[in-house]
Amino acid sequence: MAIVFKEVNYSYQSKTPNAFQLLKNVSFRLADGSFTALIGQTGSGKTTLLKHINGLLKPSRGQVIVGDQIISSKTSEKDLADLRKNVGFLFQFPETQLFAPTVLQDVAFGPENFGQTKPSAEQIAKKTLEMLGFDMTLLNQSPINLSGGQQRLAALAGVLATEPQILLLDEPTAGLDPSTAKRVMILFKKLQQEKHLTILMATHDMDAAAEFADQILLMQQGKLVKQAAPKDMFQEKELVFQKILALPKVTTFAIRFAAKTGYTNQKLPISEKELISFLQRALSQDPSGKETTPHA
Ligand SMILES: Nc1ncnc2c1ncn2[C@@H]1O[C@H](COP(=O)(O)OP(=O)(O)O)[C@@H](O)[C@H]1O
Ligand SMILES: [Mg+2]
Repeated sequence: MAIVFKEVNYSYQSKTPNAFQLLKNVSFRLADGSFTALIGQTGSGKTTLLKHINGLLKPSRGQVIVGDQIISSKTSEKDLADLRKNVGFLFQFPETQLFAPTVLQDVAFGPENFGQTKPSAEQIAKKTLEMLGFDMTLLNQSPINLSGGQQRLAALAGVLATEPQILLLDEPTAGLDPSTAKRVMILFKKLQQEKHLTILMATHDMDAAAEFADQILLMQQGKLVKQAAPKDMFQEKELVFQKILALPKVTTFAIRFAAKTGYTNQKLPISEKELISFLQRALSQDPSGKETTPHA
């Protein structure tokens, strides 16, 4: 399902003296089946933006369009029921919301709530947990007894078990160990490619954004600063200088290398593979860009 924002404004406590504008004229379009990273400093409005896509928050002005559902300030809760079946939202630190006596019951809750019989909901729950690489010996344990990584997988399974078409992820790898984080990112990419999910992921992990996202939305103080593919977004040195944009590790390394060597006249790398070619080219040229070693 495509996601469209049209001039979306959102104020907290609008119409009171404490009104505070969290989103300012935000407009963008995300294609059906795309994988987008939502980046920006803490407090830039990422979570607020995500909450507009399943109607947890409604625009004070403007429209959010998800598939063919239009959400505006006038949309009623009743009108949002269908939308919420299609939009899965993994909140930040979702493990704090695990509540059932066992993992299996927790994950089966969503599908059961959406009309599956208990046995079929449990079937879906098991299948989903298995797909995530969850340790199936823990199925009948209380979620409280799991490690942080297994808890995160259980919470994610609860969202995926409802078979959403859109997946909203709020800093899904924050606090995970690197190997679980990587596994989860690879899984999101697989869900996009194989199940055609539309994914929007708020993240501070620029390495993951560079590697997995098709495009990036950059927020600052409630405004959308730029929408671009990773390879174009991470060329914006001026935004980095202003501390609006962070960079993948390899890109930062290349900028430091270029500053030391004076080799500044080529596109910045965003992957290790690109970094290697960047260094090879840099080492075969002098800073003026002239080749010092002949081509084979
Ligand atoms: N309920 C609220 N009342 C007042 N201000 C809020 C509320 N929720 C968030 N904010 C403020 O809105 C801004 C954007 O918040 P948020 O969307 O959570 O940003 P992010 O997810 O990018 O860190 C922050 O400055 C935050 O302090
Ligand atoms: Mg947030």
